[in-house]
Amino acid sequence: MDTNYNVLLIGSGGREHAIAWKLSKSPNLGTLYIAPGNPGTAELGLNIKLMTDHFATVADFCKDHSIDLVVVGPEAPLVNGIVDYLEKQGFAVFGPKKSAAMLEGSKQFAKEFMVKYKVPTADYAVFSSDEFDDALKFVQSKDSYPIVLKADGLAAGKGVFICDSEEEVEKRLDTLKNDEKLQEAANKLVVEEFMEGEEASVFVIADGHTSHILHNAQDHKRIGEGDTGLNTGGMGAYSPAPVLTDEMLDLVKHEIIERTITGMQLEEAAYHGILYVGLMITKDGPKVVEYNCRFGDPECQAILPSLENDLLTLMIATTEQRLDEISIQLDKDYRCCIVLASDGYPGSYPKGKVITGINSLDDDSIVFQAGTKNDGDDLVTSGGRVLSVVGKGNTLKKAIDHAYKNVRNIDFEGCYYRNDIGHKGLKRTS
Ligand code: AMP
Ligand code: GLY
Repeated sequence: MDTNYNVLLIGSGGREHAIAWKLSKSPNLGTLYIAPGNPGTAELGLNIKLMTDHFATVADFCKDHSIDLVVVGPEAPLVNGIVDYLEKQGFAVFGPKKSAAMLEGSKQFAKEFMVKYKVPTADYAVFSSDEFDDALKFVQSKDSYPIVLKADGLAAGKGVFICDSEEEVEKRLDTLKNDEKLQEAANKLVVEEFMEGEEASVFVIADGHTSHILHNAQDHKRIGEGDTGLNTGGMGAYSPAPVLTDEMLDLVKHEIIERTITGMQLEEAAYHGILYVGLMITKDGPKVVEYNCRFGDPECQAILPSLENDLLTLMIATTEQRLDEISIQLDKDYRCCIVLASDGYPGSYPKGKVITGINSLDDDSIVFQAGTKNDGDDLVTSGGRVLSVVGKGNTLKKAIDHAYKNVRNIDFEGCYYRNDIGHKGLKRTS
């Protein structure tokens, strides 16, 4: 392998800090550029300002800086076709093309795909924006609660509503119709059966032909302890998730991953990059809650430290369709990632609070930055999810204790984190 690959990484969250951290360990890395990055990524490469939603500008940057690989962190540019555009200009990009990113970009597409290829998932019906009255009649005819309403398109995690009553369905239909931020995503509506069970996610790396399970994790989507309150981007994650026993993983592999990868080939939308398979482990086996076309945040921060492979080599092998030459190597430790958020998140929150203590963590823990910025000599808060702290241990309990011990060294005014990250996993392991 050529040494000195110049890499452009797109994104600015904890996920991208973790990807930059892992890439920077590669002996084959040349210059790492991160657009726009955050103060954490600035310690690992060069943060740059780039209009990443303007693909021609990205292509010009790649040409001017001899970029050998583009890595796309978030979903929006993938769903909007950044891979298709850059590949046409001759650049290697790690991530799915627009046609494959549809697995995340349209819930209707994902549901129809799953039915066609017999991937287990919840029953559903689709309604267009002028058929919301029919959606309500459909819900009334089912008369079974909770029931789930989902905007079809990308909604930054804000387009899913679990409704406990007909009144709530009416209220949420109204939100989906009238909230300006949701209108485009809610052009179509998926009404879905509620699945009972425990959630977990499996991360797959695929090159269009070969796919490997990279690792698995469990996220904590709700803001409050005991999984209460509003949905967030994710308040913490641990890996691996004990709910995914070997037997369960075998089912996931055969009934979900193989059918998905083969199905996408048959649809002429072969999958390249990271496929995030969000699962509900139900009494009838694993079912798909959602697909995402990228790493999860904060799951990425919990799983990349376990990966013994060189991430750059893996990504290059993916773009060259050589994943069949590689096997995934993971260490045996558990990881626990705690997200430190600004009080108020996922609603509005203050910014500019001075962060202290991130340099006083022990050597085995890692802190990844997200909503931070430099203000003179200070590091201050600038977003909802501010930092994520990863601890490790040879048991889940030790990983959780290690993460919390380090979290307690960090402070900023209004620092909020959940104290129960990993609680479901602990119940299964103790
Ligand atoms: P999604 O964006 O589709 O992953 O939905 C966000 C969250 O809503 C999921 O992580 C689940 O916690 C919950 N959810 C979505 N669909 C269902 C379902 N059919 N049954 C139960 N919970 C669901
Ligand atoms: N943590 C959930 C997500 O990245 O979609």
